[in-house]
Amino acid sequence: MISKKTVLKGLKTHVVGKKLFVFESIDSTNACARTLADTGTPEGTVVVADFQTAGRGRLGRSWHSEPGMNLLFSLVLRPALKKESAALLTFFSAVFIARALERVASHAIECKWPNDVLLNGKKCCGILLENSFLQDRFDFSVVGIGINVNQSSFPAELENQATSLLKEFGHAFDRTAILQELLREADALLPSVHGGDVPNIMEDWNSRCSMFGKPVTIAHGDEHISGTALRLDAEGGLVIKTSTGQSTFYAGDVTIVQ
Ligand code: BTN
Repeated sequence: MISKKTVLKGLKTHVVGKKLFVFESIDSTNACARTLADTGTPEGTVVVADFQTAGRGRLGRSWHSEPGMNLLFSLVLRPALKKESAALLTFFSAVFIARALERVASHAIECKWPNDVLLNGKKCCGILLENSFLQDRFDFSVVGIGINVNQSSFPAELENQATSLLKEFGHAFDRTAILQELLREADALLPSVHGGDVPNIMEDWNSRCSMFGKPVTIAHGDEHISGTALRLDAEGGLVIKTSTGQSTFYAGDVTIVQ
C-alpha cells in the first residue's frame, strides 16, 4: 500500500501535497477531494487511494483499476481563473503528468485531446476535472488522475486502446516514486496557471499532440463526425474541418483515422 510517510519523505514541494490523505480503499478520490474542497481545504491538497469502489471517468463513465496496481489520486486547485479558462487546467494536468512520466520512464509521452495521456499511442492515464464556480470564477477544481502503472491486462474491449507502464516496458514501477515525481511537476508548473503563463503550458501540450492536420473522427453523444483536426480555439475546444464547414467541440472522444 502507498504510505503517506514515504510519499512525504524528501518531497520538497511548496504547495502540492502539503496536505495529503492516503486511503487503502475509498469510493472515489474525486468525491473525497470535492468534499474537502467544499469545506475549505487549501490548494494543493492531494487525496490518494489504492482502490476505488466507485471511480469516476469522463462523460459519466466509471473508472476501474485493480487494487494496489496503479495510481489513483485527486488534486485540489483554487485558480484565480474565469470559468471560460477551465480547459487550461486540463492542459496543465496533462503536461505535468507527461513531464513526470517522461522523467520516470525516459520515454516520450503524448497528449490527446481533450484529456488523455498516451504511451506508445495507447492511453496510460485519464484525467477528470470537476469544477466548482462562484459566479463566473473558480471556487475550486478537483483534478482526478488515474495512471495505469503495474496493471498487466485490461478488459478485452480496452486492450487495443489502453496500456500501462508495466505492459510497455516489461517491468513493474515504484508507484510512490512516480507519485512524488507527479506532485513535484505539478508544484513546479502551478505558478504558470496562477501567473497566466498560458504559452508555457500550451506550447508543451501542442508539441505532444499529433492529431493536427490529420483525418479524425469525433464521437460526441450519438453523433460521429469526420473531418480534419485543425487547431484548438481560445477556450480549448477542438476545431474540425468537415465536408460542410468548421465545427468546434468541447467534449468527445477523438480517433485519428489511420
Ligand atoms: C477518464 O475517463 O479518462 C478519466 C478517468 C479519471 C479517473 C481518476 S482515478 C482518480 C480520480 N478519482 C475518480 O473517481 N476518478 C479520477
